[in-house]
Amino acid sequence: MFVVVGVTGGIAAYKSVHLVRLLVKAGHEVHVIPTDDALRFVGLPTWEAISRHPVTTSVHDDVPQVRHVALGRQADLVIVAPATADSLAKMAAGLAGDLLGTTLLATTAPVVVAPAMHTEMWRHPATQANVATLSARGVHVVGPADGELTGGDSGPGRMLEPEEIVERALAVLRPQDLAGLTVAVSTGGTREPIDPVRFIGNRSSGRQGVALARAAADRGAHVTLVAAHTDDGVLTDAAGLTVVHAGTAADLLTAMTDAAATADVVVMAAAVADYRPVSASDTKLAKESAGGPERTLALVETEDVLSNLARDRRNGQIVVGFAAETSHGEELLERGRRKLARKGADLLVVNEVGWGRGFEAGENEVIVLGAGGHVVAAASGTKRAVADAIWDAVLAAR
Ligand code: CTP
Repeated sequence: MFVVVGVTGGIAAYKSVHLVRLLVKAGHEVHVIPTDDALRFVGLPTWEAISRHPVTTSVHDDVPQVRHVALGRQADLVIVAPATADSLAKMAAGLAGDLLGTTLLATTAPVVVAPAMHTEMWRHPATQANVATLSARGVHVVGPADGELTGGDSGPGRMLEPEEIVERALAVLRPQDLAGLTVAVSTGGTREPIDPVRFIGNRSSGRQGVALARAAADRGAHVTLVAAHTDDGVLTDAAGLTVVHAGTAADLLTAMTDAAATADVVVMAAAVADYRPVSASDTKLAKESAGGPERTLALVETEDVLSNLARDRRNGQIVVGFAAETSHGEELLERGRRKLARKGADLLVVNEVGWGRGFEAGENEVIVLGAGGHVVAAASGTKRAVADAIWDAVLAAR
């Protein structure tokens, strides 16, 4: 594949050396177009050596080859990483004062940008408006992640790691096999209040559900993501999607029921509390009110959202559930089969969880059960790879 990598002037440019290397190693023909500012961070010889092609920033070189449009025309994919606030503004305005600018206007290939900047700059309404303009124009914005920034700061603004940019960029080229479908995905862990400062929660990070939503959107679906509590930074991958926040199991039932009314597929990846306190105290429960070393908290079952959605499913709607189990092997499958039947879902994604397994990890391993409890898919790898395998199973079930 012919890949153009635009590099703009941010410190994360050093990481794009690795990005280019990954693409070259994967067998792609890579042409790097740095801006003049980018060359203050990483020099031209580095880009030429790593990409194995001549590199220039100027529209005045190679004029007979009409280089200012040639690269854009030839490209199958354009990645801009890092994309600074300034470069996003230029892209949104369609400025073409250098080779990267002309290339971006000349190309019809998918464009993926990986923003990198300080949190304040990322959150500024001007940057957000530029990102919205670019997204509306079909540019794929990946990241930024929440993490360490230069100068000891931390927050959203860190460029995604090169491996993830490559994975997300190649995913953009996937066939739009979910185009025309509306999907609702729930994610994260619910929190059932005990009093104003305490709750019953769980360790779900929300990563698998967000990966499902992202994958569906990248494959052309219209996505609503219903998010319970998620770990810091996880929702940055949901940029551009409709996100509805739901705190408790009851909120999640309402939000998913609403979203399911127009959805072709509903996926319950959220970890929903099975029980909630019978009543939440309006004031913080004081230790002394327990009257001794033990305290009993009366709990009552929450509504089972998945069972409700399955029972009320629209004609042709596919309902997908998850089962997080601490058993393994045949017992894991048997528990999954019983859960699939009990909940009435069409597909059940079964994964083994435990201390340090499944929940907070970046990788996952699942088995998908379909009609009659038969195994219809098995997948392992990044949560994104697992998400794509689950959507393949959904398509097959339709
Ligand atoms: N689920 C739900 N509403 C609940 C509890 C669970 O919609 N009140 C959904 C989850 O989103 C998941 C599926 O049901 O898709 C299975 O969740 P899991 O916690 O594995 O099952 P439980 O019903 O809690 O069964 P058990 O605790 O007995 O394993």
